[in-house]
Amino acid sequence: MNNQELIDKLKEEHILSREEFAQLISTYTPEDKAYAQETAQKIAQKHFGSRIFFRGIIEFTNFCKNDCYYCGIRKSNSECSRYRMSLEDILNCCANAYDWGFRTFVLQSGEDPYYTDEKMLEIIKAIHAAYPDCAITLSIGEKEHDSYQAFFEAGANRYLLRHETATKEHYNALHPAEMSFEHRMKCLEDLKSIGYQTGCGAMIGAPFQTVQTLAEDMYYMASFKPQMIGMGPFIPHHQTPFSQYAHGSVDLTIFLLSLCRIMLPTVLLPATTALGSLDTDGRKAGVLAGCNVIMPNVSPFTNRKKYTLYDNKAISGEDGGEELQVLQKHMEEIGYTLYCAKGDYFSIS
Ligand code: 5AD
Repeated sequence: MNNQELIDKLKEEHILSREEFAQLISTYTPEDKAYAQETAQKIAQKHFGSRIFFRGIIEFTNFCKNDCYYCGIRKSNSECSRYRMSLEDILNCCANAYDWGFRTFVLQSGEDPYYTDEKMLEIIKAIHAAYPDCAITLSIGEKEHDSYQAFFEAGANRYLLRHETATKEHYNALHPAEMSFEHRMKCLEDLKSIGYQTGCGAMIGAPFQTVQTLAEDMYYMASFKPQMIGMGPFIPHHQTPFSQYAHGSVDLTIFLLSLCRIMLPTVLLPATTALGSLDTDGRKAGVLAGCNVIMPNVSPFTNRKKYTLYDNKAISGEDGGEELQVLQKHMEEIGYTLYCAKGDYFSIS
């Protein structure tokens, strides 16, 4: 089958074999990419119209007990200036974000043991009580089943945990020995079975990534059927072991985002900050390739500069309100509007 036939097959069957994904990834032409983009855009338009959901990210701590080789807030980065936000700081962020129109709060952080389950429950319950009309998304890393269950019962609805790579050897090349591929995958299974709208995803162009590992990622996502996918280019951070590696390709990222939309028609698919950081028009290109979410940062400005997973992170505006205006303008330039709603996942099957 030629590549465009494979794209049609993906649209019909929502899955391809690993070999077929590998063919698409290794041999796609600009015409194939345009075809995938057009197909993906039509699917997104059919389900979401010209509306883009926006979510407010609150990066509440950049302490992290992990030492992932790619990440700027890894524990061994002694030059990272660390901060933690109190419950009051977090609630202030939510209040601002709510006024700006946000109806989803994404609590994102390093894996910081200071925030025990008890503290997290206090935070989740307080947000849920103050904003019962809003969704709470957690992006706080690997925990045990019972913690995830307790957070869910306290009012958290969604969880983002990128799988990073679906190939064990590759996982081990990106993470130190203390971290386990099996545990990460188990976390994703737990999250989904508890009832979270669950997001997985990977960095495109991460060191040691190959056509085969990427094909495995696509195959894994087609099988796991996450409700959300977070996928952006790898960007090196100068104080990490991967500082000398090249950043990922924007072109390939856009192509794969299109394939994700075609594969999982109603998936919540953000045009990521990393995409916007490599290319000022990256987020627009993402939306035109089928993305339907953008996630502006609503953390205080001083903290945002400290939450650097990679170099040259895009920060527009003085605060989340200004950033939202900038993004709103960008979206309007391509015929889209930001949509003020909780924006839960829905299934068409
Ligand atoms: N470049 C791009 N993305 C990164 N992430 C972490 N470090 C980098 C980097 N250097 C991504 C990981 C993580 C998410 C929060 O950010 O995929 O899961």
